[in-house]
Amino acid sequence: MFEQPELEVAMNAARNAASVLLKYFRQQNQIQFKSEYNLVSEADLQSEKVIVETIRSAFPGHEILGEESATAALDAEYLWTVDPLDGTNNFCHGIEHFAISIAWAEQGETKLGVVYRPLSDEWFVAGKGRGAFHNGVACQTRNFQRLNEALIAVGFYYDREGQMRATLRAIESLFGHNIHGIRRMGTASLDLCMTGTGRLGGYFEFELAPWDYAAGKLFVEEAGGVVTDCTGHLMSSGNSSILASCPDLHAALLQNIKPHFETLVHGA
Ligand code: IPD
Ligand code: CA
Ligand code: CA
Repeated sequence: MFEQPELEVAMNAARNAASVLLKYFRQQNQIQFKSEYNLVSEADLQSEKVIVETIRSAFPGHEILGEESATAALDAEYLWTVDPLDGTNNFCHGIEHFAISIAWAEQGETKLGVVYRPLSDEWFVAGKGRGAFHNGVACQTRNFQRLNEALIAVGFYYDREGQMRATLRAIESLFGHNIHGIRRMGTASLDLCMTGTGRLGGYFEFELAPWDYAAGKLFVEEAGGVVTDCTGHLMSSGNSSILASCPDLHAALLQNIKPHFETLVHGA
């Protein structure tokens, strides 16, 4: 792989967070609701606490943007973006598919991304200009040429109205091209990493927060994939739509997804 002080700290933070999460997994977990469908558990909060402690003790001058409590400006000189438990819904229902996602950026550019899936002890690590590594082995997106060769993943943000309906129409449109299937696995960071490792042809979601995508986006890009918003443009630095894929599928995915995403933008 590669060596970098921030990588060591990110991996230590993820390991510490994983031991917290595994203590809570499948136990009576104190679930609270951020909104009607948006869960947060004691595990999310404790996991973020140990990640923040680990980063702060190594880099006291760096800013941390965490999903649960840590706040920072997105344009901070050195910024850590942290999702202490990506896949909370899976976690709270006893499903093993969840991860910890940690990214580090310097002057607005993501330089490092670490996603860790504790239940399979899988590490997804990317360094800007240094490649993407799955358990230490360099990886690349798979060279799918057509939609009818690939599995595609999707996510639903916390919306049960227009965004959800537009997402369902986009899925229907993709099925019209005989994709192998749609997966809604519930952990955005892992959807991105699975696109990077070539298990998936692509992944899209109509809204996502920086802690969901910061590390995984770099992973896809370093694995040779393409990541844009759902109109084909660069993602904005805050909440954004996302379309990530292997290079040759991006145009076809965009053609099927963009018109439905634009019904939201134009209110159709
Ligand atoms: C969620 C997951 C999910 C995605 C949602 C995210 P959380 O993150 O990544 O797959 O569809 O948009 O908010 O709440 O489990 O950290
Ligand atoms: Ca998340
Ligand atoms: Ca989370």
